[in-house]
Amino acid sequence: MAMETREVRAYSPGRVNLIGDHTDYNEGVAVPMAIDLGTTVTFVPDGSRRVCLHSAATPEPAEVDLYVRLDTERLKTIEPRWARYVAAVVAAVGPRTGGCGNVESTLPMDAGLSSSASLEVALALALGSEAEPLHLAETCQRAEQAATGVDCGLMDQLVVTAAVEDCALLVDFADLSARPVHIPEQPEVIVAHSGASRTLERSPYSTRRAECEAAAYGMGPLGRLRPEDLVGISDPLLRRRARHVVTECDRVRRFASALEHADLGEAGRLMTASHRSLAQDFEASTPALDGLVEHLLSLPGVFGARLTGAGFGGCVVALTEPGAVDIGTLRAPAWRVRPSGGARLLP
Ligand code: GLA
Repeated sequence: MAMETREVRAYSPGRVNLIGDHTDYNEGVAVPMAIDLGTTVTFVPDGSRRVCLHSAATPEPAEVDLYVRLDTERLKTIEPRWARYVAAVVAAVGPRTGGCGNVESTLPMDAGLSSSASLEVALALALGSEAEPLHLAETCQRAEQAATGVDCGLMDQLVVTAAVEDCALLVDFADLSARPVHIPEQPEVIVAHSGASRTLERSPYSTRRAECEAAAYGMGPLGRLRPEDLVGISDPLLRRRARHVVTECDRVRRFASALEHADLGEAGRLMTASHRSLAQDFEASTPALDGLVEHLLSLPGVFGARLTGAGFGGCVVALTEPGAVDIGTLRAPAWRVRPSGGARLLP
């Protein structure tokens, strides 16, 4: 049979998390939203045993053996760094043939807008994965974990595969169910960069995850606990970590309901409360993130603002009245983002 050499193009959005951080790996809930910035991968299979990708964002291509193993020790020797993600996806998807291609992205790198999940999912589709959204997300989560050595949760990969046009997703990580939450026409979602890029592997993410596991010991997953259960955690630091997760899950459910009732004032207040909890109880904020949040909150027409994603750098997200924020005056790279549908093959 002749080798199929037809070009395949796939696109995956990035995401901003509207509320619910550090809840996914605790069997909690979150409301992430896929955004209209993302990654396009073009791939031409050629029957070889190498996958070679070029990217406009970096001079060095990613060149990967088709039979590379999904093994962190092996993957972390691969250079340039972005080639580790390519190698991990190749290993996780197991395409039948190598080939060459190209990556184009409108997402800022290492900003906490899931540029890596977006690359993983677009590449998996371009390499021929036909998995349905949840399975595709789990495959790409395994790739991310192997490429970084960090035991990240499923939120980023799940929202970019399963997103629905004009909606955020209310995801319950206990049973991996996801319900679209319609975003009303009127508010704007602004994302602004704190100036500090961060990668999960160089952040305290793994420490926080270990603290949550220690807090959950003998209690059950933190995302399932009630506020009155917190007295059962004797260590004060672990109790604070757990309090963030427990109160965050409550905020997430109220936020989804507020959005559905177009109660933007309440949605914004919950976002701001989420930031305070992430800063004080979870210690995932930075002075730059706090400064951006306070600045945004001082502007008329801003309903609420919070750090988004893992924290420790990266971006903040704000919910605002249309035109309330002139992003040119923020002295930070900023984007006005719209909800987007999920990853897909392009014609
Ligand atoms: C990163 C991880 C996610 C999630 C967030 C924090 O984005 O990849 O799984 O844990 O941090 O909410």
